[in-house]
Amino acid sequence: MLQGADVTTSQRTLKEIVSIYERPEAVAPEDLEQIAYKVMAHLPVKEGTAGGLFFGTSILMPGKVGDEYFMTKGHFHSNIDTAEYYWCISGTGALILMDEEGNCQAKEMSPGALHYIPGRVAHRLANTGSCELVVGACWPSDAGHDYATIEKNGFSARLVDVDGVPTLKRV
Ligand code: F6R
Ligand code: ZN
Repeated sequence: MLQGADVTTSQRTLKEIVSIYERPEAVAPEDLEQIAYKVMAHLPVKEGTAGGLFFGTSILMPGKVGDEYFMTKGHFHSNIDTAEYYWCISGTGALILMDEEGNCQAKEMSPGALHYIPGRVAHRLANTGSCELVVGACWPSDAGHDYATIEKNGFSARLVDVDGVPTLKRV
């Protein structure tokens, strides 16, 4: 999706992120090595540089763990006031947002949808469709990623399949 100098690619297997799901045991052992998502990022300046921008494309595979849709780990930014844009390029899914008080909401992601994520709001993607969800993102180069808070407390709601309808369920 992204090409050129300063583009890095990273990927997460289900095994690496299985603990984010409510029922990690629902992943069949033979599926653990499967790639859950890839991120290509254009990082033209050093991480932490004030005033710069990063641009990324996230590609999230379709699937579910139990009744919970495949999703990204999710994070607050370390520099917590920094914002971000998410823009859906293809596929169908949701952008799940959670503020510091634990209020969660899901924003629809379908091609062309653009969402501004304010500072102090944790964000993660979920793929509710049957093909890859491809999302562009732009964030400040000094945002940083705080994964630890979500690893410790999780999100206060999960996006699950209820009779074929993606439903945000409080935990
Ligand atoms: C950058 C950003 C996205 C995510 C990507 C993967 O600030 O929000 O590029 O990094 O969607 O999600 P995480 O980082 O939560 O694994
Ligand atoms: Zn982010």
